Amino acid sequence: MAVAATRDGAEFLLRAWGEPDAESLAAQANNRNVWSNLRSRFPRPYTIANARTWIARVASGHERGLQFAIDIDGIAVGGIGIDVISYNAPRLGEIGYWLGEDFWGRGIASKAVPLVCAQGFEKLALARLRAVVRDSNAASLRVLEKSGFALASKLRRSDRRPRSAVVEMVYVLDRTAAAAQWPAESPAGLIA
Ligand SMILES: CC(C)(COP(=O)(O)OP(=O)(O)OC[C@H]1O[C@@H](n2cnc3c(N)ncnc32)[C@H](O)[C@@H]1OP(=O)(O)O)[C@@H](O)C(=O)NCCC(=O)NCCS
Repeated sequence: MAVAATRDGAEFLLRAWGEPDAESLAAQANNRNVWSNLRSRFPRPYTIANARTWIARVASGHERGLQFAIDIDGIAVGGIGIDVISYNAPRLGEIGYWLGEDFWGRGIASKAVPLVCAQGFEKLALARLRAVVRDSNAASLRVLEKSGFALASKLRRSDRRPRSAVVEMVYVLDRTAAAAQWPAESPAGLIA
């Protein structure tokens, strides 16, 4: 799909998942610092079997939405995608994304999130996108804010541990707000 440059000038690609990605997917995803910030459906620990199941599921078209591997030099180093949450108007999608820890801080998510949002609005005809982020996840909050998302609500969820609670921030981006913020040539114009 789209090629974009990281902050240090290296290129990354958003492309379809394939069977050969299973090993690197499991290696990058099986990290507490990655999965502790993701929805509970993300396996923990993340095994090769989990990776193969995910890749087969996406390949079968079972996932409603869009799913891409984030590829650097032919290796899948992370994932980004949109699930369609509601087909009723206003049609809503939820974006999720992660990178192997070695690839954090290079500006990859800041480039990839707007690209995939643009695909969601165009290819899935979404009216609105949401993202659900823990309040402790400063990097992801920053990525969303830079991508034009706005805070819609905060949810306090009880954790399994006594006296602890997780605060989840729900961020939204409407198609009209995105169209107004993003110039025609970027990021929608970067889509192949
Ligand atoms: C969240 C995640 C995808 C970010 O990816 P990334 O490619 O490293 O992000 P970027 O480099 O594009 O941008 C990160 C931004 O957050 C900022 N940031 C990072 N850590 C920060 C911190 N502790 N406090 C404040 N800002 C921080 C960076 O400075 C950067 O902002 P800037 O461009 O204005 O300088 C990555 O950290 C990750 O995979 N985390 C685990 C999974 C996850 O949390 N997924 C999101 C679930 S909602």
